[in-house]
Amino acid sequence: MLAATGTEHAMGGHPFDNAFQATPDQIERFRRDGFVKLDGFFNAEVVNTLLDRVEVEMSRAPDNFKSEFSRLKYDFEAEKSDIYDLLARAYFRQALTTLVERDLFLTFELCFELEKNVSKGFPWHVGVQSFGYQRAEEFGCTIWAPLHRVDPTGQRGGMAYVPDSVISGKFIYEQIEPAIVSTLEGKERAGLKTSMEDYFALRSGILNSPTMLEILEQHQVEDDFEPGDILLFNKYVVHRSVMLGEGALPKRAAFVMRFVDANSRYDLQRAKNLEYPAEKYGYKAFTRSHIEIGGPDGASLSHCRYFKDRDRRLVQREPAAAPS
Ligand SMILES: [Fe+2]
Repeated sequence: MLAATGTEHAMGGHPFDNAFQATPDQIERFRRDGFVKLDGFFNAEVVNTLLDRVEVEMSRAPDNFKSEFSRLKYDFEAEKSDIYDLLARAYFRQALTTLVERDLFLTFELCFELEKNVSKGFPWHVGVQSFGYQRAEEFGCTIWAPLHRVDPTGQRGGMAYVPDSVISGKFIYEQIEPAIVSTLEGKERAGLKTSMEDYFALRSGILNSPTMLEILEQHQVEDDFEPGDILLFNKYVVHRSVMLGEGALPKRAAFVMRFVDANSRYDLQRAKNLEYPAEKYGYKAFTRSHIEIGGPDGASLSHCRYFKDRDRRLVQREPAAAPS
């Protein structure tokens, strides 16, 4: 059912309104671990709207990533008025900016669908694709919202993540990603032919090495979720998909929003690094947004014309104008 979005209720509220408030404990957890699960952050109207939204985008999903997800879609194409309505809710703005202690800018929406007993999802990683156009040291975060129930003691199908006080993925952004390209280029200069497989082996190898697996598995957290609960996590949090096992659910969908610090800047060299497998080996990436943003290097992302409706993508502690 389509939610009555974009309209005002007779009481003067909006169907996406929510009494949610971030607690001191949640603020402390996010500071300490880099992630926090927030119960009931989206109400049933929002969940229904997101289910519809995800279904539309999934119907446009590329078919070349079947081994990881049954369907996956980067760079949503539908117009975003529902999402802007959500971002403009006072509870959303207050809770999010309180938790991350800054103003944010929405960059992308994505969705992922796991099929029971089939989709492996992504192994341990950090969001180098989704935050790969941004200066490595600048803040980025994700809202991950499973739209079906996740029971870690039953069918599972959620995510596992590790406090960034244990292992932070910062070094992946700052050091490993640039070093992958320079390593492959060095080998080519020495006359050694490299391949797309070499690139991806380097990219996933560090966080999935035997030693790292042992550390990550020992410290991993796997929460339970009802639709409407979300995970908020910063871009350095190392995480992986958890397979959807035997049980009643045939598939599990998740909706994702990426945010960057409202003052964060475009990093052209890092965007070019992400293009390396496409240019060198003909890799067909599921998004080219990193390079399509178009710079110039150092440009404020919240001012880049690539992003439409830039003022409506802002999530600010004190909005300049009253939310619509
Ligand atoms: Fe991820």
